[in-house]
This record gives sequence, C-alpha cells and structure tokens, in this order.
Amino acid sequence: MPEMTEPVRICESTALEDGGLGVRFPVEVRGRTVSAFVVRYAGGVHGYLNQCAHVPMEMDWQEGQFFESSGLYLMCATHGAIYEPDTGRCVGGPCRGSHLSKLDIAERNGEVWWQPDALFRMPAPTATPIPPA
Ligand code: FES
Repeated sequence: MPEMTEPVRICESTALEDGGLGVRFPVEVRGRTVSAFVVRYAGGVHGYLNQCAHVPMEMDWQEGQFFESSGLYLMCATHGAIYEPDTGRCVGGPCRGSHLSKLDIAERNGEVWWQPDALFRMPAPTATPIPPA
C-alpha cells in the first residue's frame, strides 16, 4: 500500500516573482537531505531538486538565484547549463537533453505547496538544516 504523505507548505505565493528569486527547501532522497527549490515562470510555479543534471551540484549563483539575467531560463552556476523553467529540460550546456528532477508543486489559496511522494520525502525533523549556497 502506498505511503500517504501530507502536502508541505513551502511559501506564500507572493514570495515568488516571475523570473525572480526562488525559494529553497529541504527534501529527503534515499535517506539523504538535499536542497530543492521552487520558482515562478510564466505565471506558474515549478519545483526541482537543486541538483544540476551535469554534476549533482547545487545550481544557484547566490541563495535563490536560479534564473539567468533574462529571467527566461534556469542556469547552473558551475558550468552554465541552461534549463527550461517549466519542464526542467536542459537546452544548452554540457548536459543538453537531460532533465532536472521535477517535484510535485501546486499553488492554492495564495500559498505554494509541495506534495512529497515515495522518492522525494519530507526530511525527518532531526535532519540537519541545509546551509546557504
Ligand atoms: S554542474 Fe551544472 S553545468 Fe556542470
């Protein structure tokens, strides 16, 4: 029987501007706590593990800075791979054609929510907080 997990509130909707700063949050993957993030693009909210498809390194230039200067693509700070914000597909750089790991994100009643699942879980309360990038 699948494990049922409550949705997790990430932030207020107003915290995410189109093409602007993202909000980071912790996710447990196979027993390890890693960083994930949500951004707003073309009005919608999208969330991914904060791990580049090239090398699993965090992508933000500074904390929350995931978009390149035009606000049209997510960009990895390490080697400059660029990703479509709504699909997570790499469209330029060393991992072209690969994808970021997409999370189940929804927006309702002025808030942004993440739905954990069997692979991407809510970290245990004792997990060590993730330091800023
Ligand atoms: S680690 Fe992201 S492009 Fe190389």
